[in-house]
Amino acid sequence: MAFWSCLLSLFLWLRVSLTAGEWSAEMPKSVVGLSGSCVVIPCTFSYPANGKTYTEFTGVWYKGYYELTVYHTDTSKISDAFQGRTSLTGDLRQNDCSLKISSLSSSDTGPFMFRIEIKDLDKFTYDQNKTSVTVNETPEIPVVSVEEEVTSVKPVTATCAVFHSCPSDLPRVSWNHNGTHSSLSQPQNPGHLRLTLYTLTFTPSREDHNKHLSCSAEYKVKTVTNYKTLKVKYPPYDVKVVSKPSVKENDSVELTCSSDSNPPANSYQWFSSNGILLGNKHTHRLERVSRHTEAMSCTAINTEGKNSSGPRKINVLYPPYNVNVVTNHSVKENDSVELTCSSNSNPPANSYQWFSSNGILLGNKHTHRLERVSRHTEAISCTAINTEGKNSSGLQKLNILYPPEIKSESSCQTKILTVCVCNVDSNPPSEVKWFDPDSSETFSSTSIKQTESLTIFTLQGWLGFPETVQCFANNILGNSSITLEAPQNGIIKHIAVASAAVVLVCIVVYVVRKRWTTSLQIDGARFGHPLL
Ligand SMILES: *[C@@H]1O[C@H](CO)[C@@H](O)[C@H](O)[C@H]1NC(C)=O
Ligand SMILES: *[C@@H]1O[C@H](CO)[C@@H](O)[C@H](O)[C@H]1NC(C)=O
Ligand SMILES: *[C@@H]1O[C@H](CO)[C@@H](O)[C@H](O)[C@H]1NC(C)=O
Ligand SMILES: *[C@@H]1O[C@H](CO)[C@@H](O)[C@H](O)[C@H]1NC(C)=O
Ligand SMILES: *[C@@H]1O[C@H](CO)[C@@H](O)[C@H](O)[C@H]1NC(C)=O
Ligand SMILES: *[C@@H]1O[C@H](CO)[C@@H](O)[C@H](O)[C@H]1NC(C)=O
Ligand SMILES: *[C@@H]1O[C@H](CO)[C@@H](O)[C@H](O)[C@H]1NC(C)=O
Ligand SMILES: *[C@@H]1O[C@H](CO)[C@@H](O)[C@H](O)[C@H]1NC(C)=O
Repeated sequence: MAFWSCLLSLFLWLRVSLTAGEWSAEMPKSVVGLSGSCVVIPCTFSYPANGKTYTEFTGVWYKGYYELTVYHTDTSKISDAFQGRTSLTGDLRQNDCSLKISSLSSSDTGPFMFRIEIKDLDKFTYDQNKTSVTVNETPEIPVVSVEEEVTSVKPVTATCAVFHSCPSDLPRVSWNHNGTHSSLSQPQNPGHLRLTLYTLTFTPSREDHNKHLSCSAEYKVKTVTNYKTLKVKYPPYDVKVVSKPSVKENDSVELTCSSDSNPPANSYQWFSSNGILLGNKHTHRLERVSRHTEAMSCTAINTEGKNSSGPRKINVLYPPYNVNVVTNHSVKENDSVELTCSSNSNPPANSYQWFSSNGILLGNKHTHRLERVSRHTEAISCTAINTEGKNSSGLQKLNILYPPEIKSESSCQTKILTVCVCNVDSNPPSEVKWFDPDSSETFSSTSIKQTESLTIFTLQGWLGFPETVQCFANNILGNSSITLEAPQNGIIKHIAVASAAVVLVCIVVYVVRKRWTTSLQIDGARFGHPLL
């Protein structure tokens, strides 16, 4: 170490002492420039100052052997081809003769040499050391570098190395990804283009996987682009339970846990909807699915993490059940009614059949319309059909509402008692009132018997029963009445006449006996019934 630094100091001392006293200039053998851009020829010179200080310098750059004046301290002496395009970047008094040439074109190729004129000393052309300029017509493609594999949570820094010929005329560099930017210029290698490193720091995401990370450098003449394909490692995303779109009930089914991840998932878990672990393979087999099979979810795991699917219910196909004829609770006679065939099935029923109670096919739509229903309208059933099978409702009788109709069997009969019967057919059942049409006296039924839609009202009595009674029936839909003859009871009448005769005889006997006895007092006795 010490040896090398010693050698270096010696070399520097030699160089300084040399340049201090000799006519010598140092410049690279060649420089490379980009067409349209600028280039700098770095240059230092020395002269035999011999301890004196000189302040007035005239620097001149020539192209070829004094062919064109590229630069002159007196700018009017510059050749037309280089007017306005050249300048010294340093200070001649500091031994810096670096030349900058702008707006390079291919005709600027060629050796350049430097000459110095020092007032009160001498003039010298350093024609031993010359610099040739190479002009590149197109810029070089940048070099993008980034880690082979990045992870989706850790920030990463990518570098884009951009070549240029002049620090004051850098290309515009851009990335196709958002992030934090910075740039760093590298020291120049003689004869090569300059290099500036542009960095981008960003946190890669799942979406960046297999995407190009590209860097563009926009030069005056052209824009050049390069890219690296990002390889991003990320935990499972979009985890799904995949299965056949549908399964027939009682069949078995294989479920697969699919996910998007890099690297691919290497472990799985299957859970029932209440969190019980069911399996840990990539696929999970269910042996006999039913319409009640619960939803399940799966979890996919890779080196980067894990993620779960939502609960997934299997689409189990089964034939219709709970088939019912649905209609309004009740409907008035002579109205029309719409019947709907309801059922549970998967897929939903796609075909229907309507049957009368004796099995005649009436229709095949989801709804069936009956135009003028009557109390005699038959019970009806429907059948729902899907891809899996069919099932039928029971026969359904409609609840038809109609006002009371008093049947012709209604009548009165008299044996020992008088019994009147009023048979009323109605829906809903009617109420009945009995009237004596003469006295508008009302009686209530002695008994009421209901058989289906028929209600039998009975009124019962004996002596004092009116000769005609009216049966008045009504429900919410209307009323109806009938007048019934009540035959008078002969036996009761004869018994009554006979008893009255006996009583009369007794009175007569009594009166006669009283007359014959002296203390006679006759009490009027009233017997019997108002009817007598
Ligand atoms: C030419 O340049 C070299 C270094 O590049 C230097 O050592 C040498 O002295 C120079 N010669 C002249 C004549 O300037
Ligand atoms: C960068 O972010 C901005 C908003 O923050 C967005 O509009 C733009 O599309 C992003 N560009 C890229 C290349 O992602
Ligand atoms: C799991 O995946 C969903 C999308 O399928 C995503 O929205 C969610 O952020 C992921 N969770 C984790 C922890 O990666
Ligand atoms: C499935 O099996 C059960 C029990 O054996 C049975 O009740 C059911 O009807 C079957 N389902 C189908 C669609 O065959
Ligand atoms: C028809 O439905 C009933 C219940 O509504 C159900 O018990 C029966 O199993 C079903 N028949 C068929 C063949 O699915
Ligand atoms: C049920 O009755 C209402 C009126 O009471 C009627 O608008 C409707 O259409 C009826 N529905 C059916 C299915 O008949
Ligand atoms: C229905 O129509 C028939 C015949 O027109 C009639 O006899 C019957 O009384 C009607 N029913 C009702 C409830 O209006
Ligand atoms: C019986 O119905 C008729 C119409 O049908 C109505 O005019 C009458 O008022 C009703 N009588 C009673 C007591 O409701």
